[in-house]
Amino acid sequence: MQVKKITLCDFRNIKEAAVEFTDGINVIYGDNAEGKTNLLEAVYFAAIGKSFRGQHINDLIRFGQGEATLSLEFNGRGRDQQISLCLGAGRVRAAEKNRVKCRRMSELVGSFRAVLFCPEHLSLIKDGPAERRQFLDIAISAAEPLYLSALQRYNRVLKQRNALLKTAERDMALFRATVPVWSEQLAREGAYIARSRARYVRAAAEFVKKCFFEMTNEREEPELFYLGVGGKDDVDYEDLAATEKRLFQKLSENTEREIAAGSTLWGIHKDDIEVTLNGKSARSFCSQGQQRSLALALKIAEGELCKKDSGEYPVFLFDDVLSELDRGRREYLLRHARGKQVIMTTCEKEGLEADHLIIVKNGSYEKIE
Ligand SMILES: Nc1ncnc2c1ncn2[C@@H]1O[C@H](COP(=O)(O)OP(=O)(O)O)[C@@H](O)[C@H]1O
Ligand SMILES: [Mg+2]
Repeated sequence: MQVKKITLCDFRNIKEAAVEFTDGINVIYGDNAEGKTNLLEAVYFAAIGKSFRGQHINDLIRFGQGEATLSLEFNGRGRDQQISLCLGAGRVRAAEKNRVKCRRMSELVGSFRAVLFCPEHLSLIKDGPAERRQFLDIAISAAEPLYLSALQRYNRVLKQRNALLKTAERDMALFRATVPVWSEQLAREGAYIARSRARYVRAAAEFVKKCFFEMTNEREEPELFYLGVGGKDDVDYEDLAATEKRLFQKLSENTEREIAAGSTLWGIHKDDIEVTLNGKSARSFCSQGQQRSLALALKIAEGELCKKDSGEYPVFLFDDVLSELDRGRREYLLRHARGKQVIMTTCEKEGLEADHLIIVKNGSYEKIE
């Protein structure tokens, strides 16, 4: 996968820009707040269909303007392709892939594959489960369009079920009559999502182990476990009907607690990945250095799994991450990125070997030969 060019209009502080990229390492260099991350955010938007900074679409539109447009030219699966997006009124107003209209973002996500790595990811191991779920959701959605639509449906139903739990005491009869319908839908979508997550974690574990060994020369062995509704027990998530049944049962047996809490207490929105080193929880027992190596290994695994399922490496986007890494890990990451396309941002260009240097100033990008 290779980005050729991005064309932007009124995206963040970028009034108008057309930026070209080459194979190898593209370095976006500039002072703080000039628009380095904004450019990466735009590229990654075309991959995941949203902002990685978790912000509202309206925040992506240049102050005072009504809409932003983004067009990405890339090479993927052996041919030149294009994604065009128009953002406005709090949503993606229009989306096209190779000049064909997409009705849903799930038709678009997965066409252009990228792996983002930013300083926040270095605390992926020590952060809470929400960050690890997000890691899974982004990675799996890119590989499996059905996953993203199942997740979107799940989240919609979850919202409705939670609203119902909050008003249950006012009308118990209505609650009893309607809650099983929502529970059934959650169980059905949840079983599918759980199977994909379990598969992904199992596949990622191999690469995490390999990268961790290479990076640290340590003999301690990392392992990854998917913690779904069955906990760490040896649950076979391949059996969709069994998971669905188990989920539905949890959701049916505990309604009193759920009414008291005013929210759904079981389901894939509570999942986590447990990472262990020599059998001990990495989150509780690893040094900060080991946790960072494991997080880095998880990100590299994301790239390797993309290669495994699609046959080509994704584009690697590094947002200010190199300055956060010590020398050993930085060199490992750069060695690993060799031969792949990388777009990275930095405030310091000393010691960096760029195939292509782009200087940013106030939302304008200038290519330096
Ligand atoms: N919607 C917007 N409209 C105009 N400018 C914006 C918008 N959102 C963010 N900015 C500006 O973008 C700049 C930050 O850009 P960013 O790419 O994050 O900087 P950096 O180069 O440090 O990575 C800030 O000056 C901020 O005010
Ligand atoms: Mg930045």
